[in-house]
Amino acid sequence: MSKVLIKNIRQLVQVREKTETPVKGKEMADLPLIANAWLAIENGLIADYGSMNDFPGISDWSNLEIIEADGRLVLPSWVDSHTHIVYAGSREAEFADRIKGLTYEEIAQRGGGILNSAKKLQDSSEDELLESALIRCNEIISQGTGAVEIKSGYGLTMEAELKMLRVIRKLKEHTPLTIKATFLAAHAVPMEYKTQKEKYIDIILNETLPKVAEEQLAEFIDVFCEKNYFTPEETERILEAGKKHGLIPKVHAEQMSNYGGVLSGVKCGAISVDHLEYVERKEIEALLNSRTIPTILPGAAFFLSLPNPPAREMIDAGLPVAIASDFNPGSSPSGNMNFMQAISCIQYRMTPNECINATTINTAHAMNLADSVGSITIGKKANFFITKKMNSVDMIPYSFGSNPVETVFLNGKKISVKSA
Ligand code: NIG
Ligand code: FE
Repeated sequence: MSKVLIKNIRQLVQVREKTETPVKGKEMADLPLIANAWLAIENGLIADYGSMNDFPGISDWSNLEIIEADGRLVLPSWVDSHTHIVYAGSREAEFADRIKGLTYEEIAQRGGGILNSAKKLQDSSEDELLESALIRCNEIISQGTGAVEIKSGYGLTMEAELKMLRVIRKLKEHTPLTIKATFLAAHAVPMEYKTQKEKYIDIILNETLPKVAEEQLAEFIDVFCEKNYFTPEETERILEAGKKHGLIPKVHAEQMSNYGGVLSGVKCGAISVDHLEYVERKEIEALLNSRTIPTILPGAAFFLSLPNPPAREMIDAGLPVAIASDFNPGSSPSGNMNFMQAISCIQYRMTPNECINATTINTAHAMNLADSVGSITIGKKANFFITKKMNSVDMIPYSFGSNPVETVFLNGKKISVKSA
């Protein structure tokens, strides 16, 4: 395989020798970088890097592609640890209804929301789902994302949940993104089980989950812990059952109310708890005594006009905050991690440096991938992007809405993507 050398990089950003733990608290403000740098890629991996001032020269010029960065920055690809990018159709009519005054809950109560997406997904073929998901994958690649977690949860029948997970598995063969799958049958209670939720949970635990485990279709299990969805007790029962099958817990927690999802997640040893708009002091204390990564989803908070998650308080308390997109048709129809950072800076008062730690190494930890992505580290996957010409990473959230990414490399290969 050919070698690549990138020269005259204005700043090589997020360079770390060791990434065994997430970056937390005050450390999140530090973003290690090398000014005026070079980066070498070999066999799809990061082979070496350094300052142009002590560039060692090249002994073997064969098979070497040289790229002149000339005033551009290089960053490790964004790692998006929470998405639902396999879905059918879209929900812009619900969006318009919300603008006119209906609430997310009211729309869900009348069969919209997740159940609307479930109906559309049940009626779609694997090929249709794969095709539409691939378009979204290409879009997020062009915006700098290199690794993504994708959830089921718009199937809700055993058949449709397995269909979603098989599509996620197929996606791995069709895109250069690094992908991990999460089983989220406990995303909503189907209409026909509204008065007998126990039966639906039984099906998840005794029929679908064993199949998911047997076919090794997912690494994580997730629950939407919220009023009218799943209680903290049900969440714990589902997560514990998942653990018995080798799945790692995650929770959709404290999105619409302070309901107990974070505490349940911590109790079950969740790798992350996500959303967190209604987190209070007791959740912060519990998280401080755990290894669970608090993950905020600014796209969903923005799109649904929810209160700001207490990102600043969590970082100031010493926690390792992660930022993901929640790309989905109902609450965040965008997977643009640059925009997620802009919201986090502007609305939550996170600094640009904190945002980059939150969207690279911390999300890599939140999806169990920190040994291979999330930083410029020798031996990690050569997943990175070269920016447009800019002076510093502050430009990324500052120029919100425009795409800072110019050239994308995934697994050491240049990816041709249309610039958004
Ligand atoms: O992460 N919170 C629950 N689930 C999704 C939204 C699902 C939908 O509305 O389709 C979320 O925001
Ligand atoms: Fe979600």
